[in-house]
Amino acid sequence: MNHANPSRPAPVADWIDIKTLYHDPYPIYERLRREGGVHWVPSVNRYLITSYEAVIATEHDQETFSANEHDSLQIRAMGHSMLRRDDPEHYRERRQWQSVFKPSVVKNVWTQAFHEKAREQLSKLVDKESGADLIWDFAAPFAAECLKELLGLHNVSSEDMQRWSQTLIDATGNYANDPDVWAAGKRSFDEVDIALDEMLEWHRHNRDHSLISSLLSSPEEQMPIEKIRANIKMSIGGGLNEPRDALGVAAWAMLTHPDQRRAAERDPSLWSTVFDESIRWIAPIGLYSRQTTQKTVLAGVELPKGARLGICILSANRDESVWERADEFDIYREVKPHLAFSKGTHVCLGARAARAQIADVALPLLFNHLKGLRVHPDREPTIGGWVFRGMLSLPVTWESVVPFKGSGADAAASAITCEAEATHHIAIVGSGPAGCFTAKEIQRCMRGAHIDLIDRLPVPYGLLRYGVAGDHQGTKAVSRQFDRLFDSPKVRFIGNTTIGDQISFEALRADYDAVVVASGVCADRRLHINGEDLTGVFGAGGITRRLNGHPYETTTPTLGRRVAIIGQGNVAIDVLRLLSIGSEELKGSDIDAAVHEALTRDIDTLHIIGRSSAEKARFDPVMIRELGRFASIEHRLHGVDLDRVPEGKDARLDALRTLPGAYQVKVEGAPSMTVEWWFEATPEQINGQGKVEGVSLGLGGETISLAVDSVITAIGFVPDPEDVISKALAQLPRASDTGRVEAGLYLAGWLRRGARGTIPDQRTDARALAGVISGDIAAGEVTCTRSGMTPPVDATDIDGWWRIDHQERDQTAPDRVRTKLTTLEALLESARDESIVFERRTQGVVGDGKSLGDLSVSVLFGTESGNAELVAEEIGQMLDGRCAVDVADLGDVDPHALDPNRLYLIVCSTYGDGDVPGGANNFYQTLRDGAPDISGIRFASLALGDSSYARTYSRGGELLTEAMVACGAIRIGEFGRHDASGPLMASEVALDWAEGVLSLVLSEDPAT
Ligand code: HEM
Ligand SMILES: Cc1cc2nc3c(=O)[nH]c(=O)nc-3n(C[C@H](O)[C@H](O)[C@H](O)COP(=O)(O)O)c2cc1C
Repeated sequence: MNHANPSRPAPVADWIDIKTLYHDPYPIYERLRREGGVHWVPSVNRYLITSYEAVIATEHDQETFSANEHDSLQIRAMGHSMLRRDDPEHYRERRQWQSVFKPSVVKNVWTQAFHEKAREQLSKLVDKESGADLIWDFAAPFAAECLKELLGLHNVSSEDMQRWSQTLIDATGNYANDPDVWAAGKRSFDEVDIALDEMLEWHRHNRDHSLISSLLSSPEEQMPIEKIRANIKMSIGGGLNEPRDALGVAAWAMLTHPDQRRAAERDPSLWSTVFDESIRWIAPIGLYSRQTTQKTVLAGVELPKGARLGICILSANRDESVWERADEFDIYREVKPHLAFSKGTHVCLGARAARAQIADVALPLLFNHLKGLRVHPDREPTIGGWVFRGMLSLPVTWESVVPFKGSGADAAASAITCEAEATHHIAIVGSGPAGCFTAKEIQRCMRGAHIDLIDRLPVPYGLLRYGVAGDHQGTKAVSRQFDRLFDSPKVRFIGNTTIGDQISFEALRADYDAVVVASGVCADRRLHINGEDLTGVFGAGGITRRLNGHPYETTTPTLGRRVAIIGQGNVAIDVLRLLSIGSEELKGSDIDAAVHEALTRDIDTLHIIGRSSAEKARFDPVMIRELGRFASIEHRLHGVDLDRVPEGKDARLDALRTLPGAYQVKVEGAPSMTVEWWFEATPEQINGQGKVEGVSLGLGGETISLAVDSVITAIGFVPDPEDVISKALAQLPRASDTGRVEAGLYLAGWLRRGARGTIPDQRTDARALAGVISGDIAAGEVTCTRSGMTPPVDATDIDGWWRIDHQERDQTAPDRVRTKLTTLEALLESARDESIVFERRTQGVVGDGKSLGDLSVSVLFGTESGNAELVAEEIGQMLDGRCAVDVADLGDVDPHALDPNRLYLIVCSTYGDGDVPGGANNFYQTLRDGAPDISGIRFASLALGDSSYARTYSRGGELLTEAMVACGAIRIGEFGRHDASGPLMASEVALDWAEGVLSLVLSEDPAT
């Protein structure tokens, strides 16, 4: 919503008819989005909201866009369920449903049941032989059986469930007001009530894990019967057709995209991606309704009070401003949060159960057991729908049936091995985060592959060692999981080896079956303004490398008294922080004190300049709040009015409010330094005769000049055009979005997407890339004929790195974790010095299953719907037997009782408008209001969130962390995050995070 921009009346789309929408809504939606995304559509008697941005705006503002529509079709069809209520009534009902759909219950109870149902249905499908239809002979009855179990409707048949679900859904989508549709819906309405009454009685005496049983578990809080009825009908409507349609579309996508199918068959972890991409591509719930509670403006279009809206998920999920080639099914596309499960208060409660049914059970089962499964050559599949969309039929045939083995998880899935890939040799050029994550993922899905990580430097880890700021050791600790890569004899580090120097690119390709180039981009992007070549203009990359002791960065720039930093992304903020903090803040880092002192000695004023408004600035709010901790630095803001937007409405503005001097926080004592922030300011030229004397900025139509002694550009990085690989790649076709240049040659990391994306993003991309490579191998496009290179004589290996590591730690300055060797000669000398006795620091770390000594760990979780609980339990299981560990709900923990002898791993989700979840609220408020002294308590944080809440992403975990630190606790390790709308499982991310934190603690605490 934008109140500041001029608004216009809704355009009328009188050219739309329902029949065409039903058959193929996509061209219609494409035009609606092109015309702004908000239209009045007479034939539907509603405003259709079709752009991603507008849909997101409605989902995050239930005060304006109410779910409680007057005369709602759904209320008429099913009764008044939680889906058509707003908070707090909605929340009260949703809570009663929640426990049955909790991730731990889905994992421990339902998944097993789904396996059994899927096997039964697969046998029936097989019996149909050549007349089989995957939708009606498998997907629909399977979804019906699963739903019966979930709800506890044990007295009805699968056919009843399917009929009820379809007729209730048809009535909900009866925008054409067809009386026959209403009549069929009413019959089902009455039948459900009869079956439900019978089962309510049964469950009173026979408790199980089902929803009906759980509703009866605390009689004093029991929902009124009419609410149970409405919500059960809504769950019958929503819990059957959607999984059926999602499964149908996913199967169809696999049958029509053989390469992607092969990749998923080889790497079962891709089924989850197949599931997400299927429901992004064709969202089963295509449209749902909302109604405005007041006059408002949406995407620049005026909406009156009481306006009925159709929120078109089917359309938003294909918005070309979000997804490239949005109409194509592509499991390798860049992951962006799709809306198929909705967002905000009504986000699907059954999402995890649906994922388990389809991605964990049905898809692997179908494709593993029906060998040669394909669309029936003589019968065409059909698809339809716009309010709900899915396959109307999917006739299939197959060559043979693989019999079931064992029980429980599909045994055939585990039968898939990568033996054929055992001897593939894969080279990865560049051992930074992208290279290492790619190696890890290749190792995971092609267990036998031999991997060489080749780096021009004698040491591994690229940007982790030389780019990530030295005072962020928690982030650098990610390298611990990479250290463990090299424990495998199949993974080698070949350092001090430059492609084009010791070995040509062509020779490298000839030596390996596949080559992944992950050498990054490191040249600072130019500003292209006058004065850029004056003495005194430096790139942020060079400054960070110098501070990080990079062997090629040998001189310390003279910055003078007044420094302008151009750019406001995270790299710029890193530079700002490192140049503004005093030496006392460098304790525990690996920053060279002398270099830091020489760089910062004379600085008294820093200007930080960006073109964007403060709301759109590219920094992460957490980085700004971190700056807020340095109480003696004074901040002054220009080009932003913090009073314009109320507190709590914009994470970036909220973060700026925490800066001393900028708003209400006072500077402590005499300012040690001044930071001037310039927003919406365009650098026009750098002034000076031979050397920098000032910089001119365009600001609100005027030009102002700042007197400065040096300029640091921090506007991104580009590949070095002179680099041999860049030149070779320029001769080849452009890499596809997946990073595939051609079979056997791939790009990873910043080289693939440009210099954006955080370290966790690299992991996400690496997973997809490993899938592409294994797909190429499975398709026979990458053969297995090469044996890898013989390392050049002057190459370094992983033992060389351990010697350097030992040396740097052994001879470190006081208060530093290491003192880096900063010349090539010193690095090489240590790498080759066989007299250095080193210990691989991977020994004894968490993941190798060894004891963690005397360490005592508490894993605490703050949750609303159980994700954090599941994650905490899995961390607990990982540590069980290796150290004293317990797992507890933050709701049951009193901050006063925290024990300084324990390490706390805190996993916390985010709810509401960036709040801590209900379960953690008491704990949080006690910290805020009581300010207990918890100094000496050591903890690490993992925040669960969803990045489509752009303003408040993982804020709950941040709030809790800030409150702990404010009360004196010490945060250690990486601040972990998990994005619920990304492709990685929370528990996977969590285990890596916990491993990183614990190995850091162990290495710092030799007593343990
Ligand atoms: C792929 C399958 C599924 C999809 C795409 C899906 C999609 C959705 C969407 C879009 C909503 C929000 C609708 C709105 O705001 O009007 C929703 C809500 C809901 N879904 Fe699902 N759903 C699926 C499977 C399931 C399953 C298997 C169940 C459980 C039996 C379920 C139970 C619910 C419930 C109870 C709500 C209401 C949540 C609330 O109002 O707070 N869904 N679903
Ligand atoms: C109603 C609702 C509001 C949410 N608000 C936010 C939010 O403001 N910021 C965020 O990062 N994630 C938000 N999320 C996403 C959750 O934090 C995320 O799904 C998390 O994995 C849930 O964990 P839990 O099951 O432990 O509560 C929200 C989810 C829901 C259902």
